[in-house]
Amino acid sequence: MLTPEAGSETASPTGLAAAPSKKVFVKTYGCQMNVYDSERMGDALTRDGYQPVDSVEAADLVLINTCHIREKAAEKVYSQLGRLAKLKRQRQAEGSDLMVAVAGCVAQAEGQEIIRRAPVVDVVIGPQTYHRLPEALARARGGAHVVETEFPTEDKFDGLPAAPETAIRARGVAAFLTVQEGCDKFCTFCVVPYTRGAEVSRPVDRILGEAERLASAGVREITLLGQNVNAWHGLGQDGREWGLGELVRRLARIDGIDRIRYTTSHPRDMDDALIEAHRDLPQLMPYLHLPVQSGSDRILKAMNRRHTAAEYVRLVEKIRAARPDIALSGDFIVGFPGETDQDFEDTMRLVEQVRYAAAFTFKYSIRPGTPGAEMEDQVDEAAKTERLARLQDLIARQTRAFGSDCVGKVVDLLLEKPGRNSGQLIGRSPWLQPVIVDAKLGEIGDIVRVRITQPGTSGLFAEPVA
Ligand code: SAH
Ligand code: SF4
Ligand code: F3S
Repeated sequence: MLTPEAGSETASPTGLAAAPSKKVFVKTYGCQMNVYDSERMGDALTRDGYQPVDSVEAADLVLINTCHIREKAAEKVYSQLGRLAKLKRQRQAEGSDLMVAVAGCVAQAEGQEIIRRAPVVDVVIGPQTYHRLPEALARARGGAHVVETEFPTEDKFDGLPAAPETAIRARGVAAFLTVQEGCDKFCTFCVVPYTRGAEVSRPVDRILGEAERLASAGVREITLLGQNVNAWHGLGQDGREWGLGELVRRLARIDGIDRIRYTTSHPRDMDDALIEAHRDLPQLMPYLHLPVQSGSDRILKAMNRRHTAAEYVRLVEKIRAARPDIALSGDFIVGFPGETDQDFEDTMRLVEQVRYAAAFTFKYSIRPGTPGAEMEDQVDEAAKTERLARLQDLIARQTRAFGSDCVGKVVDLLLEKPGRNSGQLIGRSPWLQPVIVDAKLGEIGDIVRVRITQPGTSGLFAEPVA
């Protein structure tokens, strides 16, 4: 994963083709991989005759794809289930019904416990069993509470249908494609190795097949997803094992795929082949999400990050030597157990040194079952709040500086969607910034050359260049 879109929520529509009768509302929390998974489950439900709707009230089935990364993310699910219980009772009083399915990382982490706390739930389904969703729903319709949280040997992706062209088109010109899932790193704060399971890489032919389908349905930018995407190592077409650098080179040859991104990377897996791909491939966008979490070696060790602050800074220098204009983003946790003022100052110093274009910052949140939960010296809330504010302030200044440095630059934008005001379109710069332009400049899906004119609150502004 993924840029942790803190508290982000993505609602339907998932862009499914119309079908009669059954209606599903999909609500997605958490990272981009959940967004991708919701799309794939949506495709499976479409095949089953479901039509997507954009409100709970209009749905026969509500599918909540959940996130367990921090306590707040997990708790949101239960407040939503409380509201659904009320709606279900109303429906039943009227002689109809509402089915509720909980997918994602809370489903995996809590399993049966979800049904105990919220009996409104008919199906609990973990991330590695999504190919069994239609069958689980059928069993639940027969009156059973179904819990699917194994890590089966079959590949869920092989059991899920490919997205229909209409669905791809409805989702837009920039698409996600999961290439790797799971994590073997076991950072001591993190639930992901438990909720997503061991690292698995999809083979090259499957990835290419999916990328080609996306391209032929008008997608121009793909973001390769993995909890540890740069640890991807898949079976290549030549029978050898490929690394991500090689995969990106091959994907860049697909007609129509003009932009490639990947997220999220671990510093330990940033190999030379991938750095060289950044040097050589114009299709590989100059943006890298490379979480470091802390700038203190003592804390990095306690987090089991397996690198030092200096190693991280050297890696950043090497990447910048290969691709000088690359924008870096990161994730930071403040208040990990045992973090002193001095440790936090080390984090501030690292941020000063690296100069980020953007970063996500979090207060450490105790996750049951992880080693961090058992550690002594938990940091008190007031210290976490103060450190978070200082770090966010520093990063906000760096983000603004990065935006102002772009003024005057000529860049290519991929036009992605209408702007808030009619007559405007929003495109993405190579550095992932939203840029607002006059709609007369082109159509959604076009890549247009513009000059950045000024930074704004919700993005940069740009004008056409001759
Ligand atoms: N390997 C993934 C990590 C996913 S979690 C990735 O790099 O994207 C995304 C981020 O959430 C992590 O990088 C970390 O900064 C944050 N995070 C994870 N567990 C956390 C916890 N227990 N408390 C606070 N933040 C956490
Ligand atoms: Fe979690 Fe660490 Fe794995 Fe990222 S690398 S998913 S933070 S355990
Ligand atoms: Fe993603 Fe949240 Fe799971 S960040 S991997 S949905 S715990």
